[in-house]
Amino acid sequence: MKINNLKKTYDKKVILDIDELEFEEGKIYAIVGANGSGKSTLIRVMAGTVVTDDRRKVDFCGKTHAYMPQRNHAFKMSTEKNVLLGSKKDDAAKERAASLMKELKIDGLAKAGAHKLSGGETAKMALCRTVLSDAQILLLDEPTAAMDIESTLAAEEIIRRVNRESGATIIMITHSLSQARRLSDMLVFMKDGKVVESGETEKVLSTPEKTETKEFLEFFGSDK
Ligand SMILES: Nc1ncnc2c1ncn2[C@@H]1O[C@H](COP(=O)(O)OP(=O)(O)O)[C@@H](O)[C@H]1O
Ligand SMILES: [Mg+2]
Repeated sequence: MKINNLKKTYDKKVILDIDELEFEEGKIYAIVGANGSGKSTLIRVMAGTVVTDDRRKVDFCGKTHAYMPQRNHAFKMSTEKNVLLGSKKDDAAKERAASLMKELKIDGLAKAGAHKLSGGETAKMALCRTVLSDAQILLLDEPTAAMDIESTLAAEEIIRRVNRESGATIIMITHSLSQARRLSDMLVFMKDGKVVESGETEKVLSTPEKTETKEFLEFFGSDK
């Protein structure tokens, strides 16, 4: 999947300006960069919730995609029902939902109203929902930002498994370079709406080519 000439302007300010970015099928991508660098805008454009200046959509070449936003919505129904939104809702889906909720330790909240969940619990619910969509491309905006470390590792294992078992391409934003190192095959570094550098995660992290990437890694490189 290739992105070409994506531009988004807000209030006369160019927020996103990407000439070209390619995503290889079946890989896990981590998108990193400082606050305001345009990461969420990029993923929103990909998800189709934000239009580019020229109103073009990203071409997924017929592949299905699911999007987990940075702020997740809990519909006013049980956690379980929220999780099953967008899935087939058959017995198999219900079983998978139960097992995913258990893995993330929100199974005890299955019958609780989802609007009562904490931030971290809401993120877990949204991750379950996104995974159960069975989409071929998952767009995840800081999926573990509100989770504790144990939950983060459980969420990473789920993401890894979806990638491995269904071959889904994962495109996720993260502020944790150690998470990027643990989970991703490829790293995309963004600054001021542009892709500064992208490539294999280990390579970019150990031998960055661009000065901006080096500066970013020196600043944020202490493991978090
Ligand atoms: N709907 C909007 N209207 C105006 N400015 C926006 C809007 N959405 C995002 N921005 C601005 O675009 C910049 C990039 O935002 P965002 O893509 O959310 O960054 P990131 O996810 O990398 O932190 C920010 O400066 C933000 O204030
Ligand atoms: Mg963001």
